[in-house]
Amino acid sequence: MILSGSATQQLAAALAAELGDDLARVEYESFPDGEHIVRVPPIDGRAVVVASTVSSDAHVELLQLQDAAHEAGADEIVTVIPYMGYARQDEAFEPGEPVSARTMARAISTGTDRVVTVCPHEQSVLGFFDVPATGVDASAHLANPLPADLADPVFLAPDEGAVGLAQSVRDGYGVGETDHFEKHRHSGSDVTVTPSDVDVSGRDVVVVDDIIATGSTMSEAVGELDDPARVYVTCVHPLLVGNARLKLANAGVEAVYGTDTIERAVSTVSAAPAVAETLQSL
Ligand code: R5P
Repeated sequence: MILSGSATQQLAAALAAELGDDLARVEYESFPDGEHIVRVPPIDGRAVVVASTVSSDAHVELLQLQDAAHEAGADEIVTVIPYMGYARQDEAFEPGEPVSARTMARAISTGTDRVVTVCPHEQSVLGFFDVPATGVDASAHLANPLPADLADPVFLAPDEGAVGLAQSVRDGYGVGETDHFEKHRHSGSDVTVTPSDVDVSGRDVVVVDDIIATGSTMSEAVGELDDPARVYVTCVHPLLVGNARLKLANAGVEAVYGTDTIERAVSTVSAAPAVAETLQSL
């Protein structure tokens, strides 16, 4: 049985359809003091909790779903985290800071037999869980919504860490060059990027990243492109906080694409087939 978090209902339904599993009609409620509660039906066998931890409340909800699944009779609990929040704080960058990814992973490990997460920010995050944890690559289908007539396309990563993703999207598209920018982050919303070596003049460009959060990285990268034809941006996790979508539009981006690990208007690619394949192989 699939148990969905409140922010992941579209992906959970797609996953249930892929697997032929029951989709539980979970109830979500809030108390006047702001605390939350979930209710799940009786469970016979394996429970698959599917919840992106897009907020602190979503983290709490995930922990509650795991506990509710246990109380409802599940004999095995698999936790699918399509988007793992706090994963970018995978080290203490300044003295006195926590390794938040490890904190969250440890808490999640207490209520599950194993974890599956989609394109974690760094693969090393998987090692923070105290139970077996598997990463799923959902980038292969990100090329699907791109126009079929891209002119001499260039697939660019905004930093070196996203080069593999850019190559994966290029491979999915079937043709094109890949390269990357150099990125320097000054704060949570202030980044600078320096251009890649590739001549993009008159060519269609696709900029690929794992996460678009504030949109600063993408809009800075797009702003550095010298006379491209059309520019598209695509990512696995379209967090798109604040005015990120406006920044991208102002930078001249034709279209934004992402997967349904985070349910947004741009989530045109489903991670469900890749997650289902992993679950079937466990
Ligand atoms: C960071 O290394 C990630 O790969 C993304 O580039 C980053 O999270 C994007 O954040 P923002 O949209 O806020 O620039």
